[in-house]
Amino acid sequence: MKPTMKAAVISRYGPPDVFQIADIDRPEIKPDQLLVKVLASSINPIEWKMRKGMLKLLTGNSFPITLGFDVSGEVVEIGSQVTRFKPGDLIYARMDQLMGGAYAEYAAVSEKVAALKPRNMTHEEAAAVPLAGMTALQAIRDEGAFKPGQSVLINGASGGVGTYAVQIAKVLGASVVTGVCSGKNMALVKRLGADAVIDYTQQEVTQLKDKYDIVFDVVGNRSLSECQPILKPKGIYVTTQPYPGNYLKSILSLLWPGQKYKVILLKSKAADLEYLTEQIEAGKVCSVIDRTYSLEQIAEAHAYAEAEHTVGKNVISISSSAISPS
Ligand SMILES: NC(=O)c1ccc[n+]([C@@H]2O[C@H](COP(=O)([O-])OP(=O)(O)OC[C@H]3O[C@@H](n4cnc5c(N)ncnc54)[C@H](OP(=O)(O)O)[C@@H]3O)[C@@H](O)[C@H]2O)c1
Repeated sequence: MKPTMKAAVISRYGPPDVFQIADIDRPEIKPDQLLVKVLASSINPIEWKMRKGMLKLLTGNSFPITLGFDVSGEVVEIGSQVTRFKPGDLIYARMDQLMGGAYAEYAAVSEKVAALKPRNMTHEEAAAVPLAGMTALQAIRDEGAFKPGQSVLINGASGGVGTYAVQIAKVLGASVVTGVCSGKNMALVKRLGADAVIDYTQQEVTQLKDKYDIVFDVVGNRSLSECQPILKPKGIYVTTQPYPGNYLKSILSLLWPGQKYKVILLKSKAADLEYLTEQIEAGKVCSVIDRTYSLEQIAEAHAYAEAEHTVGKNVISISSSAISPS
């Protein structure tokens, strides 16, 4: 008999209550993969968008689906080609499978996207990092072509990506980091290292007097034309919304000199996660955890996350007590 595991699965697209906790087969690993006992995962907007069927063109109509991209846990088995990890290692990763698969007791994780978990973090804190932290890093450093001494404005500084973006911009050497959030989160964003914080309910961001080298629109509710007045002449606007129209704008902006429009689309990379591990272990980057749920509370966790007012990240703590015998 194949070993089984507990997982949160969906058998159709729909509201949060489409989740069911089921016993399913444990994933079988490929030669370049690790079998990881998942001790924590976290919620990212792409997962509730997938659950609702908003990405149906990409995700298709084949069910059941186990969602979840972020993993923190223990390696229990390695594929024949794996060289960087051994059973017993504690790792974290953003899974690179199309649907993920992290809302489960075990996950098959490609070696190339995994890194050793930061020693000074719990599994819950570590599971918050991979997708959101790497998005923040790649958006500012790569799409924003960041250079030390530049100024960065982060629109949506109190959410999953934003809380890491504020800290990473400072780590990379930004001269000024301005965070945009609502009044209740201003103190947090300041504590994370922002030099200035704007309450978007009180002040129109696009009418600020300051000009920035990079505007990172984490919320994705602005446009390059709206942000033009707050971007320096060669400034770069980066959005998190990878719609075809936004890619078209990005290509068009290359055709004229001056301000550029960029779209971040995260690529899972072990080297970027290792960079984040270094910053975390040096005490320069931390996770902000809003709520912690069990796997059985996944529907509640999704309902809360999709209201889009999470402060930092919501995490799933996955107990190993109910693991089916192999
Ligand atoms: N392209 C990629 O590779 C990629 C990767 C990761 C994420 N994303 C996308 O990036 C977006 C953000 O992700 P996330 O994980 O940061 O989401 P999130 O954690 O759900 O964001 C919640 C935060 O957004 C803030 N917010 C809501 N409305 C706002 C507004 N009008 N102005 C400023 N802040 C506002 C909220 O603050 P208040 O409660 O104070 O309003 C809250 O703290 C999502 O659409 C996600 O799909 C894309």
